[in-house]
Amino acid sequence: MVAAAGKEAPTGGASARWESDPILSVEHLTMRFGGLVAVGDLSFNAGRGDITALIGPNGAGKTTVFNCVTGFYKPTEGRIVMRHGPGRQAETVEEVTNSGLRWKKEGDKGIFLLERMPDHEIAHRAKVARTFQNIRLFGGMTALENLLVAQHNPLVVASGFTVGGIFGLPSYRKAEQAAIEKAVYWLERTRLIDRADDPAADLPYGAQRRLEIARAMCTDPQLLCLDEPAAGLNPRESAELNELLKFIRDEHGTSVLLIEHDMGVVMEISDHIVVLDYGVKISDGDAETVRNDPNVIAAYLGVEEEEEIDIPEVLEDVSAAAGKAGTGKGGKA
Ligand SMILES: Nc1ncnc2c1ncn2[C@@H]1O[C@H](COP(=O)(O)OP(=O)(O)O)[C@@H](O)[C@H]1O
Ligand SMILES: [Mg+2]
Repeated sequence: MVAAAGKEAPTGGASARWESDPILSVEHLTMRFGGLVAVGDLSFNAGRGDITALIGPNGAGKTTVFNCVTGFYKPTEGRIVMRHGPGRQAETVEEVTNSGLRWKKEGDKGIFLLERMPDHEIAHRAKVARTFQNIRLFGGMTALENLLVAQHNPLVVASGFTVGGIFGLPSYRKAEQAAIEKAVYWLERTRLIDRADDPAADLPYGAQRRLEIARAMCTDPQLLCLDEPAAGLNPRESAELNELLKFIRDEHGTSVLLIEHDMGVVMEISDHIVVLDYGVKISDGDAETVRNDPNVIAAYLGVEEEEEIDIPEVLEDVSAAAGKAGTGKGGKA
């Protein structure tokens, strides 16, 4: 599969995957906390097979969007459509919406209205997995055990829901073997196989981040949501993370929704970028479109100013992230 972001219409004409084949549609999403509007009337699509980045300054509402998509929060308003199978499936979406049901699945196709579903159902039925801004692993369990726990559901089903099944049924032993194989596969992919038997809490920070992604992938998600996976990583780890995410997209066909602060990471790997500021969408398109959008530059400069980082340096960062050739020392963004 070729990611042809460069060829797509700037703000997502009919040729953009996020318009023609969205795996996720967030529609008029609003989330209020008392008087605070954390997310206000937000709409965007994430294309099937794309890496979609949700970016924006601190407090912009990015994690809140994730919490709504993954069922940790119930949105104040809005519809969140997750699709299995190709295309918009507009008729089925309306049918499920009007029926009052939470989801409808037929063969490989499925429509899931995430705002109606509890988090465990979103994970297991709609096949949306997530990681957290603050790592949440079972620290006392080994890396391998963390990945086996993630596959708890198929194992319980294979046991026939009985203790006898766990010890006796061939189906259970087969499922257990498959679970271990999958865990080992992802431990290898995330370069953690040598640490498989170490408690998760003993792993270095970067390794814990990778283990979280491995754990999410063990649930066979169609959409993987990552909340600031590069936070706290050194440049080498960050580059490795990029490779891992591209592997997940290109070799596994898993769509990725990524919250990221690091503009370099975002610009390098994203097919599509949605920019939030104060809970409102200020830009939406491919990397080229977004990095040239004055609204985006203004929002980022605003934040950096608060953090007392000098402006020429920021401008340099922005133009470096934008992949502009030349040194651009103190140059204009
Ligand atoms: N559970 C909550 N209760 C009250 N306010 C919240 C809650 N979660 C987030 N907020 C507020 O919503 C806004 C957006 O937060 P968040 O989604 O975490 O931003 P981001 O992830 O973009 O940094 C912030 O003002 C934050 O304080
Ligand atoms: Mg956040």
